[in-house]
Amino acid sequence: MEIIIQPTAQDAADIGARVIARSIKSKPNAVIGLATGSTPVSMYKKLIEMDLDWSQVTTFNLDEYIGLPKDHPQTYHTFMWENLFNHINIKPENIHIPDGNAADVPAFCESYESAIKAAGGIDLQVLGIGTDGHIGFNEPTSSLASRTRIKTLTERTCKDNARFFDSAEEVPRHVITMGIGTIMEARENLLLAFGEKKAQAIAEAVEGPITSINPASVLQMHPVVKVIIDEPAAGQLERADYYKWVFESKPEWQKV
Ligand code: PGA
Repeated sequence: MEIIIQPTAQDAADIGARVIARSIKSKPNAVIGLATGSTPVSMYKKLIEMDLDWSQVTTFNLDEYIGLPKDHPQTYHTFMWENLFNHINIKPENIHIPDGNAADVPAFCESYESAIKAAGGIDLQVLGIGTDGHIGFNEPTSSLASRTRIKTLTERTCKDNARFFDSAEEVPRHVITMGIGTIMEARENLLLAFGEKKAQAIAEAVEGPITSINPASVLQMHPVVKVIIDEPAAGQLERADYYKWVFESKPEWQKV
């Protein structure tokens, strides 16, 4: 794992955008896995400013609520169009977001996995992290080998996400999410986390044991992971000074 600690969330988001830009520039038909939530918003803004060519890029989103109408303001479908897709030249047919209204959820999940394979696999997957350590919506105790499927959110995640709804009761309890096994097959993973409320989940994921209680900890087993965080999210890391030392000491060719 490469742990990149930045003074501010904006500095961290800028590095994240550069990692994605590099991927698209080196492979114009890259397959990029995308995330939603508050965390990636500033990175998407930066990417829009970069005016990259997305015309050959394919995207797969991590997750979606089940049961909200597609054009509901809080679906991840709406989020992605508002925060990224409306502002770049991606082809709509190259965009994949789980269908929260699929009539047959298991069949849809299988087709999502097949579509990822047919696209050649995900080159770079963007991840946020929940305060409980979830990646995608793989909540604690998710199988570390799981594939795209239905999940039930924890009460904590419903409460965390209630800020986007009128109340916690309105947050759908069920979601479709890529599995942890799916995420682990991405060639590169980029995990972003900002703010003190993520500090414990980040410390457990980076320095704790690999355990399904903190699903993000499985990334310790992935060969190419960047964890890009701001100072408050790094607040509980025991070896923060070492990670900063490594980043500052990077040879020029390794810098993003
Ligand atoms: P957030 O969510 O970016 O809104 O904090 C992250 C997540 O739940 O994965």
